[in-house]
Amino acid sequence: MNFTIRPSAQPDQSQPVVGFIPEFSSKPPLKELEAISPEEFSGKKFTHIILREGKKRILLIGLGDGKKVDDDTFRKASGVAIRQLNKIGVYRAQFVLDGVEQFAQACVEGILQGVYEFTSFKDSKNAKKAKVDEISFLISKDQVASVTKAVHDGQIVGECVNIVRQIGNLPGNYINPPTLADEALKLAKKYKLKATVFDKKKLEAGGFRGILAVGGGSKSEPRLIALEYKGAKNKSAKPLAFVGKAVTFDSGGISIKPWEKMEEMKFDKMGGVAVLGAICAIAALKLPINVVALISSAENLLDAHAYRPGDIITSYDGKTIEVLTTDAEGRIVLADAMAYARQKYEPAAMIDLATLTGACIVALGEYKAGLFGNNEEFIAQVKQASLTSGEPSWHLPIGPEYHDQIKSDVAHVKNVGGRYGGAITAAAFLELWAEKTPWVHLDIAGVAWTTREHVFQGKGATGYGVRLLVDLAKQFA
Ligand code: BES
Ligand code: ZN
Ligand code: ZN
Repeated sequence: MNFTIRPSAQPDQSQPVVGFIPEFSSKPPLKELEAISPEEFSGKKFTHIILREGKKRILLIGLGDGKKVDDDTFRKASGVAIRQLNKIGVYRAQFVLDGVEQFAQACVEGILQGVYEFTSFKDSKNAKKAKVDEISFLISKDQVASVTKAVHDGQIVGECVNIVRQIGNLPGNYINPPTLADEALKLAKKYKLKATVFDKKKLEAGGFRGILAVGGGSKSEPRLIALEYKGAKNKSAKPLAFVGKAVTFDSGGISIKPWEKMEEMKFDKMGGVAVLGAICAIAALKLPINVVALISSAENLLDAHAYRPGDIITSYDGKTIEVLTTDAEGRIVLADAMAYARQKYEPAAMIDLATLTGACIVALGEYKAGLFGNNEEFIAQVKQASLTSGEPSWHLPIGPEYHDQIKSDVAHVKNVGGRYGGAITAAAFLELWAEKTPWVHLDIAGVAWTTREHVFQGKGATGYGVRLLVDLAKQFA
């Protein structure tokens, strides 16, 4: 997708014009709308109408309540616009941003988010149809510099989100821990990150027994991937650490899951993949901060080498885990990675992303991630990043009662805490491996992918977390 900027109020009538309109109740804000009934179009959020006059075409997108318009409104509205334009079949379009230039970055992000479809294994039925590949933004003359930067940054973020979605949508027979590590190495090269991959031998030598246990039942051996970006003036400044669960497929292991929806467990890698995309975006944006990303990857399958209920695992830092179900594997691979992050990098703060529990989806549904933490200040920063990025989350508690639920008779902790409060007991488990490091856990089980097509984006992996982590890094920098 090519973006150009035109400092002009005059649209070129030979290509479709896209405009954004807040909801109106009485007099329409455009003369072209005077002949249109309010039932057809009144600017309701994410509705659209195409007006035609000879060869002239205007696509209007509703923004809803004008007082509530923010980045996220523009991001999604732009996604709606590009998806509608692609339905018409045109190559070029111009977006009128005169007066709303502050939303230019969100607009670019939304366009890229809207165009992406997972078509790698299917000839898209629209393959032969024209698709928009050139967009110009009509803006006021004095905004050229700021919009140029906004478009540049929006492209970086949008592209990284789509990289995450593409890797995320690839199924378990394409993405397994070794191939994920290969993708990470390719991206590390492109974005100039330092990369270290721990293969099985190195994991054994290092004492990463949690990752090894979870990955034991698969022919594709587990990997721990470490990526480093040093953007801060002080190269030895303590980094911000990202940790991600990348279980490339979660069958449940010996505690096997029922078959319904098991195919969705290819998305059990999304925390790790989001962390990968985020550090790439942060590097491309050249944010003045040091970041390290740890992607803990295993495939949870079952064979003669699989770990089993009753096993006691000594994790990287020596704490022992009693396994009650092999399906609560995410916390085990994260424990090793968190302990390693803590000991190796002494991070200023640590945030983990994981599709950790079905219980979190039961609690919060598909719109908000569960947010947990051990440090009020860091929690507040993550909440703020969640707001500015339009990647919603909701703070849930942890506390001594929940820790009691995961006490084990034979080890430091057990990996399940009973039926109730499953998202919280999972977070309490992780808290033990954060120790004193300021830490936040985002349970993204409900938000990492979508099984429904939206007006602003297609089905599959959403890329949740990339923008949140970028905004968090900006605050930190
Ligand atoms: N990857 C799943 C969590 C999950 C389930 C995410 C459904 C998205 C949709 C995780 O490894 C898991 O299986 N968790 C169990 C934990 C339980 C056995 C304590 C769960 O949530 O059922
Ligand atoms: Zn599981
Ligand atoms: Zn899982």
